[in-house]
Amino acid sequence: MDIYLSALLPEALLVDLPEIDAQHEEIFSRIEALKAACFGSSYVPIDEFDSLLELFDQHFATEERIADEARLEFSNHARVHQDTLRLLHRALGEVINGTHDAHSFLRYAEYWFERHISEEDRLFVTTLKSSKYSRPLDRRTAVDPSCPARA
Ligand SMILES: [Fe+2]
Repeated sequence: MDIYLSALLPEALLVDLPEIDAQHEEIFSRIEALKAACFGSSYVPIDEFDSLLELFDQHFATEERIADEARLEFSNHARVHQDTLRLLHRALGEVINGTHDAHSFLRYAEYWFERHISEEDRLFVTTLKSSKYSRPLDRRTAVDPSCPARA
């Protein structure tokens, strides 16, 4: 079993799935970098905020792919991802037009992400690991239980 050692994430936020833990850490790291870049300045690096939202999008797609590979029902979780992306894009638009503060945006994104990992992603990974289809996550080889020769 791979063990992911995070420099940034507290143990309480590790879900014990290296690909996902690494992406979570990258997103928190980007948020921290943006906080530092914006601190004490009115400058807002819009491209880097866009890049953060792209990272969220890619991360959500990874979770959805893993759920699909494991044949898990994931529609509610995926809806949360889409609703959040829509909300973050709208809030970023407000940062760009000056009606929303960049730091508030980053604090909200960080708070939302931490809560999402603690509540929804942990449950997802627990379900994934107890799934009868979870083996491809470790081996990257499919075992089709509907085919007796391979089961
Ligand atoms: Fe998620």
